Amino acid sequence: MDFHADPGFAGIEKFESKLWLASPTMHGEEKKWVDDAIVTNWVSTVGENINETEKKMAEYVGCKYAVGLSCCTAALHMATKLAGEKLYGQARPSEGTLAGRKVFCSDLTFDASVNPVAYEDGEAVFIDTEKDTWNMDPAALEKAFELYPDVKLVVVAHLYGTPAKMDEIRKICEKHGASIVEDAAESLGAKYLSGGDWKETGSLGDYNAISFNGNKIITGSSGGMFLTNSREDAEKVRKWSTQSREAAPWYQHEEVGYNYRMSNIVAGVVRGQIPFLDEHIARKKAIWERYKEGFKGLPVSMNPYDGKKSIPNFWLSCIIIDEDAMAPHVRGDKDELWKKTSGKSSPGEILEALAAFNAEGRPIWKPMHMQPIYCENAFVTVEGNGRGRTNAYIEGGGIDVGADIFRRGLCLPSDIKMTAEQQDRVIEIVKRCFA
Ligand SMILES: Cc1ncc(COP(=O)(O)O)c(C=O)c1O
Repeated sequence: MDFHADPGFAGIEKFESKLWLASPTMHGEEKKWVDDAIVTNWVSTVGENINETEKKMAEYVGCKYAVGLSCCTAALHMATKLAGEKLYGQARPSEGTLAGRKVFCSDLTFDASVNPVAYEDGEAVFIDTEKDTWNMDPAALEKAFELYPDVKLVVVAHLYGTPAKMDEIRKICEKHGASIVEDAAESLGAKYLSGGDWKETGSLGDYNAISFNGNKIITGSSGGMFLTNSREDAEKVRKWSTQSREAAPWYQHEEVGYNYRMSNIVAGVVRGQIPFLDEHIARKKAIWERYKEGFKGLPVSMNPYDGKKSIPNFWLSCIIIDEDAMAPHVRGDKDELWKKTSGKSSPGEILEALAAFNAEGRPIWKPMHMQPIYCENAFVTVEGNGRGRTNAYIEGGGIDVGADIFRRGLCLPSDIKMTAEQQDRVIEIVKRCFA
């Protein structure tokens, strides 16, 4: 559809430069620390930027130890491997620590949360999502332990910067003797009220990971961190991520190694960004609130959070369309088709309209249980087994909260450099889609 020629969109100007979903925002201080690394010749995976970044992030998140790594995917791999080794013992070099084991995982997340389970030869069992925070549903997790009582590891992600219901999840895990890998890649700086204290995401699991990917709340261009209160765990991850080198004059190895350490250049960028983390969060929050205000009267809601228990970092602002305002919209594996319908709209239409005006939105992350690669993995909802619930002779098809959020939701431009005028234009484009 040609949105510019459509009289329904008359008077809306195309954005001159692209409005991004979430792009890096530099402040100048980053250059100082990158230059420092170059001038002092610490252009390697050791150096003062790494030391300082680890120290500052451990302090901010409230964990005793932080290990700087090349990305959060590496941090999640180390976290998952370590959890597997502590639960089931050291694996042979040719086998993962989770071989033959099931692991309960967030379903509505980016696949980097769960791929490390596969790297370690484990089998992810996906846990459906609740509607209050769009994260792992504790009731579905409880069902999963009924179906698979032997499981001892749970991977939990905080979607779009909104903390999951960690107290409930933790309580269920404790009851079943299970450990938690916490994926706080999207939620750095988000807070959660637990036991009367506000705690940071990234400190709520037994093994925790954060990201400095280019689109995150602060960035190093890439980079990630493993966070823990255990000195032994931190030392293990440090060893594994530097090729598992032993204390010998030559290269001596007793364990499989990885080249996962953070570069001192990347750490320089992160070091320069840390002082601006709280400012970034405040600006993201203002964007979320401006959208909420701007969409009043439209048949949509913002991505939700529990205001009593959590303070998100508002990394991405999203909307979900009311069921009765959904226009016909179907998705294949790689393409989609939507129909213009008066008074209604669809994620397909809104995202295409935004793109036509040079603004970047994105579909909600496609749930893991719907991904071709994981189509044979188990999926558990509040009803129990979430697979094979449809029946030609009975109406309905079972509950699948994640699939529903994917079908009706979308992520909006959430870049903190977006001006109020630009955001008003985005709001106007969305409104016109419902005309
Ligand atoms: C939920 C989640 N987990 C993990 C990652 C992986 O982080 P990284 O890109 O730093 O490897 C991302 C994003 O990139 C993410 O959104």
